[in-house]
Amino acid sequence: MEVVIAPERELAALAADAIESLLRRRPRTVLGLATGSSPLKVYDELARRHTEDGLSFAEARGFMLDEYVGLAADHPERYRNVIATEIAERVDWPADQVRGPDGLAVDLPAACAAYEESIRAAGGVDLQLLGIGTDGHIAFNEPGSSLASRTRIKTLTRQTRVDNARFFDGDVERVPTHCLTQGLGTIMQARHLVLLATGKHKAEAVHQLVEGPVSALWPATVMQLHPHATVLVDEAAASRLQLADYYRQTYASKPDWQGL
Ligand code: F6R
Repeated sequence: MEVVIAPERELAALAADAIESLLRRRPRTVLGLATGSSPLKVYDELARRHTEDGLSFAEARGFMLDEYVGLAADHPERYRNVIATEIAERVDWPADQVRGPDGLAVDLPAACAAYEESIRAAGGVDLQLLGIGTDGHIAFNEPGSSLASRTRIKTLTRQTRVDNARFFDGDVERVPTHCLTQGLGTIMQARHLVLLATGKHKAEAVHQLVEGPVSALWPATVMQLHPHATVLVDEAAASRLQLADYYRQTYASKPDWQGL
């Protein structure tokens, strides 16, 4: 696992570099998309590169990590709409090439199985962007999730609903109670995991993710078992890392030409 500690803008540029390099080499790249605050600057940077440098998403496929259950099709916080607004519609990404689990499906388990199949049929995810919850979730794999889980229905923890209330006018009761989420086993099949975390409120989760024992109590720790996982954190999110100096030294001595 590589840990990079840098200001947020630099982290966003690094993640965008990794995505750009994939898209330039193989326009049909499959990208895994996260919602929430963490990837927003990456999406800003990709949109800028699209406008200024012609970076194209025209042939790329995108798969979202998760979706709330039951939010109306036109609800601005429905993740499908968030991804359209934050990235897909700012670049040349055809709407039908970006998919997410269907939180409005009548048969939710069938929708989850269909979503797994669509990721598999696309050849799997090349690069998966991730954020981390203060409770250590990735996607919406809350504490206690099976480390081998696949896309399924999950109950959101009170903590996650409180954390996400800021997207619902600060009213936790308006945050849905359930979601569909890629499982940890699903996420682990992506070829490169790139997790972004900023702010002191993420410091404990980041410490557990990088340095804690692998455990369902901190679901993100499963990333320690991935052969190509990159953790991009600012100073505040890195503030509880025991080996922070070593990570800094390792990254500083990395050759310039070598990407993430
Ligand atoms: C969202 C997702 C979640 C968020 C996490 C952090 O698609 O999968 O795991 O990444 O809750 O959220 P932010 O970035 O808003 O702090």
